Order: sequence, then C-alpha cells, then structure tokens
Amino acid sequence: MKLQLTLAMTALVSLYSATTLAAGDAAKGKTLYATCGACHGANGEGMEALNAPKLAGQEEWYVIRQLQNFKGGIRGANPKDTYGMQMAPMSQTLPNDQAMADVAAYIKSLAK
Ligand code: HEC
Repeated sequence: MKLQLTLAMTALVSLYSATTLAAGDAAKGKTLYATCGACHGANGEGMEALNAPKLAGQEEWYVIRQLQNFKGGIRGANPKDTYGMQMAPMSQTLPNDQAMADVAAYIKSLAK
C-alpha cells in the first residue's frame, strides 16, 4: 500500500514536470506552424477535406501531449489509424519538447 502510494506520487510528479518543463514561445511557434497550416488551416480552423481537426484555442497541455504521442508512436502508428498515420510524420518536424511547447502556445493564441 505504501509502495503503491509512493509510485503514484512519483508518477504524478513526473507528469507534473513533463507538462511544466517548458513555457511555450508563441512567436517561435508561429514559424513552426507554417507546415501545420497546410492541413489544419492558416488560422488553425481545421480542414475537414483533409481530416485535419480545428486546433485554434486548444489547451497547450493537450496539444503537447498529442504531439508527444504521435512522435512517440503511441498515436498514429497503427495502420488502421488512417488519419493518425497522416499526422504522425508531421510530429517528427518538431525536433524537441520545446518546439512542441512553442507550437502549442501559438495554437492556443489562434483563438483570440
Ligand atoms: C498532412 C496533413 C497534416 C499536417 C501537415 C499536420 N497535421 Fe496535425 N493532424 C492531421 C490529421 C489528419 C489529424 C487527425 C488525426 C486523427 O484523426 O487521429 C491531425 C491531428 C492533429 C492533432 C490532434 C488533435 C486532437 O484534437 O487530438 C494535433 C495536436 C495536430 N494534428 C497538430 C499538428 C501540428 C502542430 C502540425 C505541424 C507541426 C500538424 N498537426 C501538421 C493532419 C496534418
């Protein structure tokens, strides 16, 4: 029981640090977003014809987690996940967590 609690705490702490490690820079994210706009729309409005959802205004922590999942092969790696497989290679254009945070900050700002 004590061990389980310790494990749970450790998991929480690592989750916390994963989402807070880098504050996104929306200005840098704008440059990174140039590629994304081709499918998700210049203003993140989404493009149904390309199956690319609206991103504008989405929470930064959620966008970062999805990008990490795509890049880490958790999402978009199954051949049955047709649309996820279109997005997965795009996540590879973001070199690191900072780049993900930057693009997420820009995406969040698009709602304004
Ligand atoms: C080739 C077209 C294409 C490009 C370019 C593209 N995406 Fe996507 N993206 C998609 C598709 C299609 C989906 C939907 C995947 C699914 O249905 O699971 C998606 C899904 C996403 C999601 C998940 C949304 C959610 O609500 O879960 C995020 C976040 C995302 N894209 C961000 C980006 C970012 C950031 C870039 C630029 C680095 C980018 N995309 C470039 C096609 C693209």
